[in-house]
Amino acid sequence: MPKILIIEDEASIRAVLKEILLDQKELKLEIDQAKDGFEGLQLLETNSYDLAFCDIKMPKMDGMEVLQKAKEKNINTPFIMISAHGTTEMAVDAIKMGAYDFLQKPPDLNRLLITVRNALDRSSLVKETKSLRKKVSRKYEMIGESPALNSVKEMIEKVAPTEARVLITGPNGSGKELVARSIHEKSKNSDGPFVEVNCAAIPSELIESELFGHEKGSFTSAIKQRIGKFEQAEGGTLFLDEIGDMSLSAQAKVLRALQENKITRVGGDKDISVNVRIVAATNKNLKKEIAESRFREDLYHRLGVILIDVPSLKDRREDITALIDKFLHDSSEEYGSKKKEVDAKAVKMLEAHPWEGNIRELRNVIQRLVIMAGDVIKPEDVRKYL
Ligand SMILES: Nc1ncnc2c1ncn2[C@@H]1O[C@H](COP(=O)(O)OP(=O)(O)OP(=O)(O)O)[C@@H](O)[C@H]1O
Ligand SMILES: [Mg+2]
Repeated sequence: MPKILIIEDEASIRAVLKEILLDQKELKLEIDQAKDGFEGLQLLETNSYDLAFCDIKMPKMDGMEVLQKAKEKNINTPFIMISAHGTTEMAVDAIKMGAYDFLQKPPDLNRLLITVRNALDRSSLVKETKSLRKKVSRKYEMIGESPALNSVKEMIEKVAPTEARVLITGPNGSGKELVARSIHEKSKNSDGPFVEVNCAAIPSELIESELFGHEKGSFTSAIKQRIGKFEQAEGGTLFLDEIGDMSLSAQAKVLRALQENKITRVGGDKDISVNVRIVAATNKNLKKEIAESRFREDLYHRLGVILIDVPSLKDRREDITALIDKFLHDSSEEYGSKKKEVDAKAVKMLEAHPWEGNIRELRNVIQRLVIMAGDVIKPEDVRKYL
């Protein structure tokens, strides 16, 4: 139920406004009232309103001051200012100070209702974005307190706020992508995009156009201009995943982009400057790839200003219980069911498993067990489905 606050010194106007709003039955509004600015601010601080009406001319504290104080206190409720003596300047001032809208008193009914609907739509969008943000950052939460993982987390805290390039190594499914996302989240560019390129999945003849884009007509199938990943990541982070699988010719082109912070679209002739934080990852041993001439040493040095090695799960078995708990929780949320328990013996068995596929394998096993086992996951379930 959307909640609206009316801050207005005249009881008769409060009553009329309330009546008009409650008449809009389909909006299912809940209305509170405040007879002056002090009471209004107090209510705003202790409740979460989707919208506030605020009279401008009031004794004690005028409406503009209420608005200003609310902004200072980081109250995000949209304000609709109302005044009987409104001038254009007053309306402009109110909007400049962050009011959502300004209405003359007595307000035109249609205009009033349109403004209310728009303000409520905006407020529900803001709420939704907030809860999605929370969900996303929970999705990328790094679970585990083992010394091995804690040292990775410490590295992330240190390097994220810098501009430094980071090369993440570690076995399959150990959490390299999670580390990359976490660096982005904690960086100065966290409001910018996080763009991922899986270098192993793109055929080498297409990688150049994928990364740098192309101009229309630059090759047969280039029917439109295309913006590459480097440009898409402008102001944010470009995650070059599986960089160890990139062809040598693509490596040469990426090297140039990293050396000069400039790219050229395929078929284009101008250099385009890019401001992008580069984070790369691989499960290959790049030193070995270099020794065998499959990876350019100069590119390695350009990429890996900071190296983060993500440990395999068998080197941090103490994290397994917490990870099981997290995946059980995620599954129960996903299926909307009660969170399952794991019998102590079954936990022991899971802890002893080699986990060659690391955390991804553990997550898949838990998902399988949640679907196949009863309310309590027992040793025989583990034996059967591991
Ligand atoms: N510390 C962690 N806490 C919770 N979940 C994790 C953790 N590490 C990894 N995961 C989860 O495990 C899965 C695999 O992680 P991720 O994709 O980051 O691994 P990766 O090292 O990039 O794998 P690959 O080498 O196959 O690309 C993902 O679902 C990720 O969310
Ligand atoms: Mg990965």
